[in-house]
Amino acid sequence: MATINVNGERREVQAPGDTPLLYVLRNDLHLVGPQFGCGLAQCGACSVLIDGKEIRSCITALSDVTPNQEITTLEGLPARWAKQKGLSAEEAKTTLHPVQQAWIEEQTPQCGFCQNGMIIKATELLESTPNPSLQQIKEAYTTSGVSPNLCRCGTYAAIIEAVQHAATLMAKGR
Ligand code: FES
Ligand code: FES
Repeated sequence: MATINVNGERREVQAPGDTPLLYVLRNDLHLVGPQFGCGLAQCGACSVLIDGKEIRSCITALSDVTPNQEITTLEGLPARWAKQKGLSAEEAKTTLHPVQQAWIEEQTPQCGFCQNGMIIKATELLESTPNPSLQQIKEAYTTSGVSPNLCRCGTYAAIIEAVQHAATLMAKGR
């Protein structure tokens, strides 16, 4: 048994230590935002944040995560934003993270399969770099992680626009 901290809650899981964190999140905790794409850390579909840093949960073993580390999945982004903004529990229930809001307003996804990783990457970027340049956005998706974030539908231009829109929303505190 292992204890992990997911989206602000301590969760006990029975899986063996060498189980990929992705399987634990999806199969044991029913958090299906992270997707199984390549399983080899090459696409980014499975990304989550650990202590604010994007990691590939398909190659991260359950035993590699300590109970003190804060895992945030796509599902936990609204609460993450609410906590950062000091919103009440009631407000948090009806709040989307600005990155998610921007993705909706820009109608970014096509099939949607890769978009979990794209949103997680945008969140990591904007928390450290609130007003990124075009170059910084491109680098975030191509050279800053284990490997580039891949989209087989080719939504890259829409993703850049969504990140820029999210930066504007975050600056407004929405
Ligand atoms: S499924 Fe993890 S990087 Fe592709
Ligand atoms: S939207 Fe289809 S893979 Fe990216």
